[in-house]
Amino acid sequence: MTITQEPSRVALITGAASGIGRRIAEGLAIQRGISVYIVDKDAGAASEVALAISAAGGRAKSCVVDLRDCAALQKALPELTAEFGVPDIVVNNAAMAALMPAAEYSLDHWTATMAVNVTAPMILIQHTLPHMKKRGWGRIVNVASISGIRAGTGRLGYGTSKAALIALTRQFAIEVAEWGITVNAVAPGPVETPLVKINHDSATRATYDDMVPMRRYGTPEEIANGVLFLASDQASYVTGHTLAIDGGFIAAGVLVRDMFEKQPVPPIPAAASLATVAP
Ligand SMILES: NC(=O)c1ccc[n+]([C@@H]2O[C@H](COP(=O)([O-])OP(=O)(O)OC[C@H]3O[C@@H](n4cnc5c(N)ncnc54)[C@H](O)[C@@H]3O)[C@@H](O)[C@H]2O)c1
Repeated sequence: MTITQEPSRVALITGAASGIGRRIAEGLAIQRGISVYIVDKDAGAASEVALAISAAGGRAKSCVVDLRDCAALQKALPELTAEFGVPDIVVNNAAMAALMPAAEYSLDHWTATMAVNVTAPMILIQHTLPHMKKRGWGRIVNVASISGIRAGTGRLGYGTSKAALIALTRQFAIEVAEWGITVNAVAPGPVETPLVKINHDSATRATYDDMVPMRRYGTPEEIANGVLFLASDQASYVTGHTLAIDGGFIAAGVLVRDMFEKQPVPPIPAAASLATVAP
């Protein structure tokens, strides 16, 4: 693959050791020649991704952080972002997604979910803004979810946190727009990743296949493509937006798959008979 150098750009991607985050990191580093921080709690997987990027000719550093501990994150950031410098692209992609009935949602899960999915993104954005303002350029992309737009069974903590992340996207967007910094989100539909292997049983998969107009799960590449656009120069006038990448899930209302097989469309009446019907 050819590397097109975008001089001195640096990106930080959370949850980049797996799934969607990994594809985003590889896209930024290998397709666009951007130095990337691979931030993840999984040390082994993060270092494997960094090594794979280096082997492909990119520049990557793995950084082991558990985003549940926001105070530790805040303290660690200056050292964590020392090697390539403060990032001018931030992708908040890591998430916690424990599913349980709303009435029984545990306070521990709620607190941890909000920390990883909302508070850590805020801390990371705040850390990088002074640098982005100085450069007059910055790209922040938050990986939200269709669960932040539509409610889903068991998703009290996850869905609420993703709705908050979408609101956080808009809040930052309007306050930093005049410095050439854009803040956007993507809202993936169901995507084949390790997270989904844990959270989606066969009944959930069948439900999604029925509710997604494209009748299939997305791929990490399809989500990464949207993120790469929002993190590019080409997206310079897009800010505060949430891009659904979901095979049509959010657009859909009633979906009757075989409606016209069962009930053929009646022929349109001739113009003359239309005139007699219309008053
Ligand atoms: N897969 C889907 O169907 C789907 C749908 C909608 C939204 N999303 C969103 O896409 C993003 C990526 O999801 P994925 O499916 O690629 O998941 P994944 O499980 O494949 O990867 C998530 C990564 O985040 C890391 N991570 C989790 N908690 C962390 C923590 N406390 N500190 C640091 N790192 C942590 C994990 O170690 C892992 O490497 C998430 O924000 C998720 O909510 C996914």
